[in-house]
Amino acid sequence: MNQPTDPGGLLGSLLADTHLDARAAVGPPAAVPAHLRRAPTDGPLTGLPAPASPRVALDDALPGRTAVRDYAMTPLSAADLSAILTAADRIDADIWSAERAAGVDLDLYCATWRVTGLDTGLHRFGPQGPALHRVADLPAGAAAEDLVSQREFARAPALLVITGNLAAALARHGSHGHRLLLTRAGAAGHAAWLTALRLNLVGTVFAGLLPHVLRECAGADGYHRAALFAFAVGHATPP
Ligand SMILES: Cc1cc2nc3c(=O)[nH]c(=O)nc-3n(C[C@H](O)[C@H](O)[C@H](O)COP(=O)(O)O)c2cc1C
Repeated sequence: MNQPTDPGGLLGSLLADTHLDARAAVGPPAAVPAHLRRAPTDGPLTGLPAPASPRVALDDALPGRTAVRDYAMTPLSAADLSAILTAADRIDADIWSAERAAGVDLDLYCATWRVTGLDTGLHRFGPQGPALHRVADLPAGAAAEDLVSQREFARAPALLVITGNLAAALARHGSHGHRLLLTRAGAAGHAAWLTALRLNLVGTVFAGLLPHVLRECAGADGYHRAALFAFAVGHATPP
């Protein structure tokens, strides 16, 4: 098909595609073929403490919600990390249980540099428990800055990295599946952020991830496991 070369025509063509796509998305979703599901390859399991309870009411935390990219050296407690990961997982389980049951998974990875009781490394969250499956070693200090597109994120005590099965999402919904996966990742990232605020922590969501890092560390090929969104978290620097 000839693509229009003028920007207005191109935009019109894209919008027509989106419209067709949205109409297709109203139909019944297709089954996800088994070969598109990829079980993660994990190492040993470490239990996490029960999620910490909120310390601040949501109404009191919300006015202070702003993106923070500098963090104190203070370690994050494992119970706070547990609360953040549990919140990200729970919102997806509550809203998109049918997607999960159909095999369109979100997997929550977590890079830890300064979390009490946890070694530096990359882990995958296993909500039963809650617990972390060790996935890979990670460099610490200045060497960690090569793992992220903005070095300040490597100075956070921990990063949540939300990945999803794009292949399964596309098989189930057509290209609407990609938007749905991004929406789910957005909800999980913001649930993590709001939970952190209620624990008197600071952070920011971000999407500037380096694809080769997760490919090398977690076998994330960008299709069966695609990095979607992330959240950096820590304690505020002293004023
Ligand atoms: C989809 C998305 C992607 C983002 N990617 C980045 C990023 O790569 N790097 C970054 O520093 N912030 C990123 N952010 C955070 C925004 O920059 C931040 O929300 C914005 O600066 C608003 O700041 P505020 O919360 O202080 O108003 C992203 C936010 C969203 C919603």
